[in-house]
Amino acid sequence: MRALTVVPEQAGSLAVTEVPDPEPRDGELLVEGVAVGVCGTDHEIAQGDYGSAPAGDERLVIGHESLGRVREAPEGSGFSPGDLVVGVVRRPDPVPCGACARGQFDMCRNGRFTERGIKDLHGYASERWTVEADYAVRLDPSLERVGVLLEPTTVVYKAWQQVDAVGGRSWFEPQKALVTGAGPIGLLAAMIGVQRGLEVHVLDRSTDGPKPDLVRDLGASYHTDPVREVAAAVRPDVVIEATGAAEVVFDAIGATGAYGVTCLTGVTSSRRLRIDAGAVNRDLVLENDAVVGTVNANLEHFRGAAEVLAKADRDWLGRMITRRVPLERATEAFERQDDDVKVVVEL
Ligand code: BGC
Repeated sequence: MRALTVVPEQAGSLAVTEVPDPEPRDGELLVEGVAVGVCGTDHEIAQGDYGSAPAGDERLVIGHESLGRVREAPEGSGFSPGDLVVGVVRRPDPVPCGACARGQFDMCRNGRFTERGIKDLHGYASERWTVEADYAVRLDPSLERVGVLLEPTTVVYKAWQQVDAVGGRSWFEPQKALVTGAGPIGLLAAMIGVQRGLEVHVLDRSTDGPKPDLVRDLGASYHTDPVREVAAAVRPDVVIEATGAAEVVFDAIGATGAYGVTCLTGVTSSRRLRIDAGAVNRDLVLENDAVVGTVNANLEHFRGAAEVLAKADRDWLGRMITRRVPLERATEAFERQDDDVKVVVEL
């Protein structure tokens, strides 16, 4: 069968290649791939900056934002042929650390976790794939066109849970949220903010293309002014940072009102900035502010995110997917185009 693969750490190696058909082991589902989403991590892997293949393999099948249809399910697995499913990305470390031992592998302490399509395990960008039934999540059948957005939704579902957990150290009834960045993560974070009944503001550089309307159609406000200005006017209780741009990150941290919670979701490449570190410290201390980083998602987040997607407007989710590329031309999905929001490869 065909799969989208790379030689890790080798830029330019991304290609559609032949790989052996998957054989489900005990307790595993055999799944017909429907689509995979392409995100910043996949771009980093394609550029040779990130990712590792399973021991003994030269190439890594990429794809961690999955969607498939069950073809075969073991008796008693709770799944049936035809079910729409998404595979979880991370697996616990083998030690396991205390977090992984408790199913909180998204919070792994020793870094020895593995990730489908990213770190030491093949991903889901293949015509067929297998997944342990315990690491598969069923989606509402009406999400066939947009269910590939589940994995990025798990990441922001977890981000909001982190906000709740950190906010929960005292009285916390947030009214206003500022989301920096209107890429898929920012848009999905805004969508959850609106579902939670918050007044949501989204900030991005784009003045045209699909983003402004996507934000407004959620019932949120769209801004293109600098973070500081927007934040001074809004005084958000919560900031979800989804640009990973170093300047925006620091401006966002200083942007909250008192008892503000800033949740960082973007990965920044190394960058030197001149910042007034004293002012950042003073602001955090004198306002009881908190900054929390978040990555990945565990099964609880996958199940919660599946409910979030089931409640969401299918047309709006569909508009987030701005390009669909067939597997044979999958490398085109990695050529960035103006107005791309989420690009998916159809399997
Ligand atoms: C994925 C996460 C993963 C992270 C780091 C992200 O793109 O959504 O599941 O943990 O990359 O590998």
